[in-house]
Amino acid sequence: MTQSLTIRRPDDWHLHLRDGAMLAAVLPETARHFARAIIMPNLVPPVVTGAQAAAYRGRILAALPEGMTFEPLMTLYLTEQTDPDDLAAAHARGLITSVKLYPAGATTNSASGVKDFDKVRPVLERMAEIGCPLCVHGEVTDREIDIFDREAVFIDRVLDPIRRATPGLRVIMEHITTKDGVDYVASHSEGLGATITVQHLMFDRNDMLVGGMRPHYYCLPILKRRQHREALVAAATSGDARYFLGTDSAPHPTHAKEAECCAAGCFTAPIALSCLAHVFEEAGALDKLEGFTSLHGPAFYGLPVNADTITLSKLDPLDIPKTLPVGEHTVTVFDPGFPLHWRVTG
Ligand code: DOR
Ligand code: ZN
Repeated sequence: MTQSLTIRRPDDWHLHLRDGAMLAAVLPETARHFARAIIMPNLVPPVVTGAQAAAYRGRILAALPEGMTFEPLMTLYLTEQTDPDDLAAAHARGLITSVKLYPAGATTNSASGVKDFDKVRPVLERMAEIGCPLCVHGEVTDREIDIFDREAVFIDRVLDPIRRATPGLRVIMEHITTKDGVDYVASHSEGLGATITVQHLMFDRNDMLVGGMRPHYYCLPILKRRQHREALVAAATSGDARYFLGTDSAPHPTHAKEAECCAAGCFTAPIALSCLAHVFEEAGALDKLEGFTSLHGPAFYGLPVNADTITLSKLDPLDIPKTLPVGEHTVTVFDPGFPLHWRVTG
């Protein structure tokens, strides 16, 4: 008998859609399975005002193929110049769902991010007042700090001080990648959640580096050691509502990934749910998948759970396209390197 699982329709609480031809190419891959997604604002130039968020939302909806439904939940890119009134007005109108903090230089298109965290204190205080949550890319950018330690150091040096200084600010630690991240969430329940990606649940740094470098597994924060992956799997499959799915699906043209200096990001959207069913089944926790993909995120953001469902079935290995066309280029689909049997069938 075919094994199958019906769950509430999932949402993606951390997604990069880009713009233009890339947006048109990747949007259906998310909209096919996910009802909503938190849309990252790290375009070039970034989405820093309410008006820019409204315009970007319009471009996303215009790129949605006929017959598909999808709700983009917009974010603003926090800068040292962010106007608290503009932010509050966009939030009050329901135009933005959250604000994204990138430490300047931490990752792709983060140059306009925050250098001096004291400078954004008034904005963060306003956000706490109006109930607008902060999504955080949690890595320090200090050249002295080893890339594998940047998340743990950020928690001590930046995140914890911000949270202490701004009581009531709801914070999402985006794409946690370490046991340190899990431990911090586990010991600080008030107004704190964390998203976890597909690739950080599946792979560790050996998978990326041993036997040759695999650029399609390179993302930021970078894959860590196995013990960290195990802590993430334990957190995601625990049923604890503070952890939810944020794929961080981050498409780049294939030539930018397979380059001398490879762009950070894994394009996981097309196979995210197949991968997750695999991970949760391996952990003996298929019954916890729905919470992680479909229930915990809405609860944290104070949004309703989706009304409809999807069904995943375990069948013959899934045929995963290697690439999708993007204008005259392609984007390479994340390939776990082993057969995936779970797929969305309804
Ligand atoms: O790997 C990543 N890619 N991490 C990020 O934080 C940004 C993202 C992107 O925009 O490509
Ligand atoms: Zn991201």
